[in-house]
Amino acid sequence: MSVLLVEDDESIATVITAALVAEGFKVARCDSIAGRDALLAEGIYAALVTDVMLTDGDGIETLGRVRASHPDLPIIILSAQNTLDTAVRASDTGAFEYFPKPFDIEELVRTVRQAAGAGALVGEPSDDGATGQGLPLVGRSAPMQAVYRMITRVLRNDLTVLVLGESGTGKELVAEAIHQLGHRRDGPFVAVNTAAIPADLIESELFGHEKGAFTGAVARHIGKFEAAAGGTLFLDEIGDMPMQAQTRLLRALQSGRSHRVGGREEVRIDARIIAATNKNLEPQIAAGLFRQDLYYRINVVPISLPPLRDRADDIAALARHFLVSAASEGLPRRQLTSDAIALLTAQPWRGNVRELRNFIYRMALLAREDTVDAAAIVPMLTVAVREEPVRDAVPGLDAAVTRWMAGENPAHGTIYDSALAAFERPLFGEVLRLTGGNQLRAAQMLGINRNTLRKRLSELAMDTDSWKL
Ligand SMILES: Nc1ncnc2c1ncn2[C@@H]1O[C@H](COP(=O)(O)OP(=O)(O)OP(=O)(O)O)[C@@H](O)[C@H]1O
Ligand SMILES: [Mg+2]
Repeated sequence: MSVLLVEDDESIATVITAALVAEGFKVARCDSIAGRDALLAEGIYAALVTDVMLTDGDGIETLGRVRASHPDLPIIILSAQNTLDTAVRASDTGAFEYFPKPFDIEELVRTVRQAAGAGALVGEPSDDGATGQGLPLVGRSAPMQAVYRMITRVLRNDLTVLVLGESGTGKELVAEAIHQLGHRRDGPFVAVNTAAIPADLIESELFGHEKGAFTGAVARHIGKFEAAAGGTLFLDEIGDMPMQAQTRLLRALQSGRSHRVGGREEVRIDARIIAATNKNLEPQIAAGLFRQDLYYRINVVPISLPPLRDRADDIAALARHFLVSAASEGLPRRQLTSDAIALLTAQPWRGNVRELRNFIYRMALLAREDTVDAAAIVPMLTVAVREEPVRDAVPGLDAAVTRWMAGENPAHGTIYDSALAAFERPLFGEVLRLTGGNQLRAAQMLGINRNTLRKRLSELAMDTDSWKL
């Protein structure tokens, strides 16, 4: 892997080059912005290490165009001007790391190594369906860059990681990436869904049991902690773990040891722990459903995955990625037009990346043409909306009517009309959103006359422009 080093101080440049070469990197060196741009145009680099004050200008100010032409290239900034301003400017550029001079050369080398790893996290699907590094964490949006950065920080240590985020945001994928890129990659990756195991079996699942420990324990059983020795133990859905099991888990994490149910022998825990949940744990703690001390124990390095709607920039890349993987799994190879992509980008994706993935697969299966445009997608989107995950389901309409009656307190003799308006507003809004504000298509979807829809929209003072794409 090559690193591009832009440094006009000869002695610093020599020291850095020697340290990077000793780590197995190739180093391309120059001392100016012009030199940097020329080298970037010719070669492929795993990271850019750059000074700020250069003979022909300011290394930070000109980073914008590097970002534009090489969005994945991790940038590490070195500076002798240790002002807050430089630090802020450096982080504004989305730089991977900022090193005020003088800096610890070992730390710089470590950071370059991590940065080079982070570049490898971003798998861009290639046409043949291969994902390059085999770790397809797709997405280059700013919120995902923050996630990649956090990931790189835990690769060479065993700190406990707590992955947070809504359902379908990629928590498990992040846990796998940490394992596969980290220093325990040669050990096992053991995932346990702590919500799926019956409460009375969870201790035995996690810690194992001895033969005869309880009725049905016909043989010794190795628990997940032992099975993960030398590797990573992924405790999924930890927010749904029964209280009693939480107590056992806490004790094990605190002592670094566990014993099998019905056994005396202590087993040393030798696994990196990654926990994940889609629950907000603080209210769970307040409600007495999650142990606060366990929370502190696992919340050492929190990594929060943004919901997909907060990184709409990534939707196009994700959609293309899933089209390629659908084709590699034997589904017809489809392409999306740019208006189709725009329509997908405007959806709320409450089920996050999982929902988008399922949608793309369904679309690949159902589309009539190989090139799929927005009009072809609209009817499929309505299905997607109806199939929203039951887990996060909105309360039924009956409940909504009861609540509306209690809350609105509509005047006697006007209830029917105001209820109809209260119902039509979100209904029309939803259909217009799905059709990008196209009234004709909205009317077709609703199965009502276009003029009826137009009349009702104007009576309800609803402006269709706001849904236009
Ligand atoms: N950044 C991403 N790039 C590519 N695929 C992704 C990405 N994020 C998620 N996915 C895919 O989306 C699906 C859901 O991801 P995952 O199972 O990791 O979600 P989760 O956060 O664990 O959800 P839950 O809370 O429901 O368990 C998977 O098929 C996963 O491969
Ligand atoms: Mg999961």
